[in-house]
Amino acid sequence: MNILITGATSGIGEQVARDYAAAGHQVWVCGRNQEKLAQLAALGDVHPLQFDVTDTKQCQQHLGDLQGLDLVILSAGVCEYIDDAQHFEVELVERVFQANFFGMVNCAQSLLPNLSKGSKLVFIDSMSRLLPFTRAQAYGASKAATFYFAKSLGVDLKPKGIEVVTVSPGFVKTPMTDANDFAMPMRVTVAQASAALRSQLAKGRRTIYFPRVFGWILRFMHKLPTAMQLWLAQRMKD
Ligand SMILES: NC(=O)c1ccc[n+]([C@@H]2O[C@H](COP(=O)([O-])OP(=O)(O)OC[C@H]3O[C@@H](n4cnc5c(N)ncnc54)[C@H](OP(=O)(O)O)[C@@H]3O)[C@@H](O)[C@H]2O)c1
Repeated sequence: MNILITGATSGIGEQVARDYAAAGHQVWVCGRNQEKLAQLAALGDVHPLQFDVTDTKQCQQHLGDLQGLDLVILSAGVCEYIDDAQHFEVELVERVFQANFFGMVNCAQSLLPNLSKGSKLVFIDSMSRLLPFTRAQAYGASKAATFYFAKSLGVDLKPKGIEVVTVSPGFVKTPMTDANDFAMPMRVTVAQASAALRSQLAKGRRTIYFPRVFGWILRFMHKLPTAMQLWLAQRMKD
């Protein structure tokens, strides 16, 4: 397969890129970290693309002419929490949305005209979109927006034979979560995350959650009445 992965210079995206490359696929890896991109390019059939996903022009310049992709995985993202809900900075919310939401929208816009029947476009959101977690106003909202955008896009791309897939990870040990100062139940390794992602994609799943048990728990909580969700979220905060 011809596979393009954003956020391939770290964490989940990097592991998935390494695993697909090791399995003999041709992989385009995207990120800003030149050194990491060069390391990945040394793996073999791996093509580095250095650009910032928040820059619409750069996305168009690097992605606009790519043809024949079978699988696109949009993984690039950032996480910032709001520490003081009464005095938050709108710039923080904008930064998170620029990378997590508009970054994926920019890449999708540049790639879609050249995607054809049978190709898959994968958006990595997060299980954080399922509950109103403390301090996650910007991050959770950006992931909820991504999920909605992707699912709605999937409705309109279905007649063209382009499949849109969403992936909602729980906690995965990466530089992103290494910065967290709270307990992360059922956190998995990037190797486990990559294996779950690749196997569920191969099975044709369109809405992917891993780790599985954490996904069941959060989806159950998501179905509870809002008052109960808020009570649970408050308990997690206290
Ligand atoms: N780790 C988790 O527990 C977890 C859970 C749920 C969802 N997720 C989601 O999974 C995805 C990957 O997370 P991760 O944990 O693997 O994070 P990570 O290790 O911090 O990696 C983030 C990746 O995003 C890229 N990136 C960030 N901003 C960018 C920008 N403006 N332009 C281009 N690339 C940019 C980084 O590349 P450069 O630095 O090279 O630009 C890096 O490759 C994210 O969307 C995250 O929200 C993660």
